Amino acid sequence: GAAVEVDISSLKSGEKVTVEWRGKPVWIIKRTPEQLAALPKIDAQLADPKSARKPDELTPEYARNEHRSIKPEILVAVGICSHLGCSPSDKFQPGAQPSLPDDWAGGFLCPCHGSTFDMAGRVFKNKPAPDNLEVPPHMYLSETRLLIG
Ligand code: FES
Repeated sequence: GAAVEVDISSLKSGEKVTVEWRGKPVWIIKRTPEQLAALPKIDAQLADPKSARKPDELTPEYARNEHRSIKPEILVAVGICSHLGCSPSDKFQPGAQPSLPDDWAGGFLCPCHGSTFDMAGRVFKNKPAPDNLEVPPHMYLSETRLLIG
């Protein structure tokens, strides 16, 4: 499928846009400083905190870092749960709902069977989803133009 070019110049901190690439929803999220600061603190709660599983399928080399991205604040991820393919919902606020832990620092909740993911798309332990969300191949054409695919 064709690569998709996205202008992210108007994306504000804490916002998400979704674009379609190869028939899949791709999320582009500008994480807040608080959301970024939380990432290194929750490794022990995650199934694959270092994105070591299936790296060739799920995490390109340039995203194998703490924030799973090229620019620390910008996450690019395929919004499809690694369990049975539902699309997780945004739960960006701490304590977004009662089914989430008290120390919830923001992330995503799959409505189908309750898998949870952090703000880098990393799956929490002991959930039906086995893997982190996929970071699709992407690159920056300029400060604000992103090419996905
Ligand atoms: Fe997401 Fe089952 S499809 S938890």
